Amino acid sequence: MAYKIIVNGRPATVDVPGDMPMLWVLRDVLKMKGTKFGCGVGQCGACTIHLDGNAVRSCLTPISAAANRHITTIEGLSEDGQHPLQVAWEELDVPQCGYCQAGQLMTASALLAKHPHPTDQQIDDAMSGNLCRCGTYLRVRRGIHKAAAMSASKSARPKTSARKSSGGK
Ligand code: FES
Ligand code: FES
Repeated sequence: MAYKIIVNGRPATVDVPGDMPMLWVLRDVLKMKGTKFGCGVGQCGACTIHLDGNAVRSCLTPISAAANRHITTIEGLSEDGQHPLQVAWEELDVPQCGYCQAGQLMTASALLAKHPHPTDQQIDDAMSGNLCRCGTYLRVRRGIHKAAAMSASKSARPKTSARKSSGGK
């Protein structure tokens, strides 16, 4: 059956069985390899995407549940790789092997959208389902705090200085 989905703002139509998980739709049908297969049974978080802004496991989300809804993957987290989390991740060298990190970022970005200044407890609660064999948990937490602080200082900056720094008249 043909399903219409919106991936990173772009409409797509895929002709697949209704029970095909979004992880397979993304990786095998749409050839978007950023979302990772870890366990396939909802236990690791490597495959996390957003469905209408909420973090979900794409290995457990059938295409039939995603039809006509907005899907965001790691490729669509930002247009230029400059999402505050991506900047913080780079500055703090958060990833080690990197395999789990797309899922970490997608869960973290959904958290920040709901809680722009999360506490350690809110971070731990939100991130507890995202496993990392390399043990980057403390750096992930620091990265989320840093991204929250960067977003806060950006939004607190006066608009005039933003115009000046961009060379505006
Ligand atoms: S691959 Fe989906 S939770 Fe592990
Ligand atoms: S960075 Fe290696 S599994 Fe998380």
